[in-house]
Amino acid sequence: MRKVAIAGNWKMYKTQTEALEFLQNFLPTLETTPEDRDIILCAPFTTLASMSKNLHGSRVQVGAQNIHWEDAGAYTGEIAGPMLTEIGVRFVVVGHSERRQYFGETDETVNLRLKAAQKNRLTPILCVGETKAQRDAGETESHLFGQIERGLVGVDQNHLIIAYEPIWAIGTGDTCAADEANRVIGLIRSRLKNPDTTIQYGGSVNPKNVDELMAQPEIDGALVGGASLTAESFSRIVNYQ
Ligand code: PGA
Repeated sequence: MRKVAIAGNWKMYKTQTEALEFLQNFLPTLETTPEDRDIILCAPFTTLASMSKNLHGSRVQVGAQNIHWEDAGAYTGEIAGPMLTEIGVRFVVVGHSERRQYFGETDETVNLRLKAAQKNRLTPILCVGETKAQRDAGETESHLFGQIERGLVGVDQNHLIIAYEPIWAIGTGDTCAADEANRVIGLIRSRLKNPDTTIQYGGSVNPKNVDELMAQPEIDGALVGGASLTAESFSRIVNYQ
């Protein structure tokens, strides 16, 4: 059985005060949310400890947005797995296109981070996706297959979420058509050893398009940036119909 996971990716947004304010508004809206879906908030490092404390006993799980491949060491500015698990973090975003584009993340470092996450019993959310230029050149499939193949060397596919995030759809309001996202996710699934891996769609998911996206047979969830920042809109997404 494939699990549904709806994850918010807060990126570099929200102070600790703002994060706790969000939770106060968000948690009460989950009372009637069906049990069939996991709910995850991937928040900035400085908010994780208090988020985790405040979410104890709730059904919302906490995720980070990066993890280094060593458990400790001279790596200024990085974060290690044991630092995350100690404060109750369960998930971590790895290989987001913003990390690849602005911080030099490669399939090789993505692979190291994925393995470090699993070694520390964190479930990584591996992001893959093509640029507009790659799509226009007909290279979507080959690009994604390369990212998957290189990224997943030695990675346990039973404790993994993949997010298909076409880069041209991230933060642009230009959502990938639901049937096209479904098609591409089906192709990604066909390359996996474990076809039951949860595969999310990400890229301008919002309260208006979530129902149609989630109705697609291959789409097991959503990774949501901008629309996860207010309790009202993320609640509507989590309560998709
Ligand atoms: P967006 O971001 O929902 O704002 O497009 C998605 C993401 O980057 O994960």
